[in-house]
Amino acid sequence: MPTATQPLNPSSADTARQTVLSTSIAVNKLYVSDCVEFMRKMDANSVDLTITSPPYDDLRNYNGYAFDFEAIAEGLLRVTKIGGVVVWVVGDRIKKGRTLSSFRQAIYFQEAGFYVHDVMIYRKKNTPFMRSNAYTNCYEFMFVLSKGTPKTFNPLTEPTVRNGMEMLVTNKGADAINRKVLKELKKEKTRTNIWSYAVGLHGTTSDRIAFKHPAVFPEALAADHIESWSNEGDLVFDPMCGSGTTCKMALLKNRQYIGVDISEEYIKIAKERLRQHANVIA
Ligand SMILES: C[S@@+](CC[C@H](N)C(=O)[O-])C[C@H]1O[C@@H](n2cnc3c(N)ncnc32)[C@H](O)[C@@H]1O
Repeated sequence: MPTATQPLNPSSADTARQTVLSTSIAVNKLYVSDCVEFMRKMDANSVDLTITSPPYDDLRNYNGYAFDFEAIAEGLLRVTKIGGVVVWVVGDRIKKGRTLSSFRQAIYFQEAGFYVHDVMIYRKKNTPFMRSNAYTNCYEFMFVLSKGTPKTFNPLTEPTVRNGMEMLVTNKGADAINRKVLKELKKEKTRTNIWSYAVGLHGTTSDRIAFKHPAVFPEALAADHIESWSNEGDLVFDPMCGSGTTCKMALLKNRQYIGVDISEEYIKIAKERLRQHANVIA
């Protein structure tokens, strides 16, 4: 049985919203549970957005917890709403070359019924993973999987390199003469699918307590996906939430959240992080 931690910032507004979120599991809570067991208790088609990162092969030591990838993929397909999105952040172990587990997982998701909507890159601006006989690895994959066509896309933008007023060449007319016309270049453009983040303290997060977990992903990464693929009030799920990054950012972005981790120790860290931030925004 999953164990619910205490509600973090229950309010009448939250309670009202819970009733419309087709899930039999209470939202805005963190649970200690195996995520496969947990998802079996969730309603089908109840989650708008999942952002999660699995254990990477045996790259990290998670106290030897079981990790049944196929059952997790099938559980995610069942609980995701039609048009909902799963962002699967994953890297490969290097042993006799790259394991390519990430690719195998992506193909499994596709064969199970997800669309591989995008294959994005999480680029680390600073990285400790140097190799003596290959270039320093500075990225992980972010597989953006959707159950049908994504129902929400709020594109994030970035400043353009050239902007303001410029004389621009117009298409030649029938007389074949080039003409220049004063036009305004856009100040913003839609981002590319390579996102770069600083990692470590004040990059990944400023919450020192989070680093008691060995593999935290950046808060900004979670926030950017939350804004891109969900709207306020939507349900954001992390079935392997570790130190609670996805749930913290969902809270700060006015989304509902459910976080699950098999480790009681990690859920304690997540609970403490969210409690601090729930107090800040209360
Ligand atoms: C890469 S970490 C996630 C880190 C998280 N994104 C963060 O920012 O802190 C993977 C997590 O999966 C959890 N985990 C492994 N197997 C699990 C399972 N079967 N059910 C739930 N959680 C599991 C581990 O305890 C670990 O915290």
